[in-house]
Amino acid sequence: MIFTVPCIMGTEGLVADELRFGGYAGVNAENGSVSFEGDISECARANINLRCGERVLIRLGWFSAHSFEALFESVKALPWENFIGRADAFPVKGYSLNSTLKSVPACQSIIKKAVVERLREKYNCVELPETGAKHQIQFSIMKDMATLYLDTSGAPLYKRGYKLEQSEASLRETLAASMVKIARYRGREDFYDPMCGSGTIAIEAATAALGIAPGLKREFDAAAWNDEWAKAFIEQKEEAGAKARGEKLPIFASDNDPNAVELTKENARRAGVLDYINVTKGNALTADWKSRSGVLMCDPPYGVRMMDLKQARFLCRSFGEAVGDSPLKKYIISADEEFESFFGYRADKKRKLYNGMIKCNLHMYFK
Ligand SMILES: C[S@@+](CC[C@H](N)C(=O)[O-])C[C@H]1O[C@@H](n2cnc3c(N)ncnc32)[C@H](O)[C@@H]1O
Repeated sequence: MIFTVPCIMGTEGLVADELRFGGYAGVNAENGSVSFEGDISECARANINLRCGERVLIRLGWFSAHSFEALFESVKALPWENFIGRADAFPVKGYSLNSTLKSVPACQSIIKKAVVERLREKYNCVELPETGAKHQIQFSIMKDMATLYLDTSGAPLYKRGYKLEQSEASLRETLAASMVKIARYRGREDFYDPMCGSGTIAIEAATAALGIAPGLKREFDAAAWNDEWAKAFIEQKEEAGAKARGEKLPIFASDNDPNAVELTKENARRAGVLDYINVTKGNALTADWKSRSGVLMCDPPYGVRMMDLKQARFLCRSFGEAVGDSPLKKYIISADEEFESFFGYRADKKRKLYNGMIKCNLHMYFK
């Protein structure tokens, strides 16, 4: 099978590296996604182990679709019965961009009809009750090329299952994991997140360093498809669980808001890393940064989801005065295009990344 892993724009190379390093075949980075080849076990393994990808889709077919008739016939020709049982549910969603077939609801209904017709013929029945396991069909139509997928993940992979609440201001786990990967952090040097919020960055740094697979604690849609899929997910979870290490890590998460400190502790406990990291209340502006070395990584408020822009810039200026010329390597993500002028230091390197729909820059200082 061919699988597609959609990912945050700008992280395709990281996901491709994860897959290559994991020994998957046919890895190919595209725009906003990475594809690879494999079987059911490889699919389960990718779902459980990928830190930066958003989901794992089976790419079932791709073809040109200039008309609804062509779309119907090409969708009907795909082997849906290889995955979808007679009683299974198969909702359809997707999008169309720069194509003749513009109406998404119309495409959705044509695709649904084509799959229904195929399955009725294959199962020799009229009724398809759709009371069984969910097989989410996804389509994309871009410049008149349609691609049809089946989603094996269910909830997106950033939902690891450890976060108590997905607060508005918290980073996506996949974005935090990508930042940790960009910094090549492996648990050897000191690592600080002095504005930890719900703890995403420190938890992702810790789980990566300890080799704890991000998908161990969550469910996946495809695990409910049939016995073969269920077995693959059970086996891959067992294998991933056996690889986790267990030494204490020099990871320090802090925040000046006591509620954030408690939330980070609770999330870290749920992620299985509370005993390995240090979580305390502290003011990022008054810590003695000049005597510390290692990595500092954080996501200060940038006036979009928390604080207004003026307050956020004032904080950024004070933070720059506190940490700017410390020996720490600094990785600071911000949506403020003028971050560097307020922080007071020009980044050695910047990388464009998206936090949900918000365009951000990861500012990197290698001192
Ligand atoms: C955007 S949130 C961080 C979100 C976090 N990365 C997450 O994924 O949950 C910014 C955090 O900075 C904290 N903060 C603001 N000023 C601070 C200061 N002077 N010292 C420490 N923390 C501060 C806020 O309390 C808030 O939790």
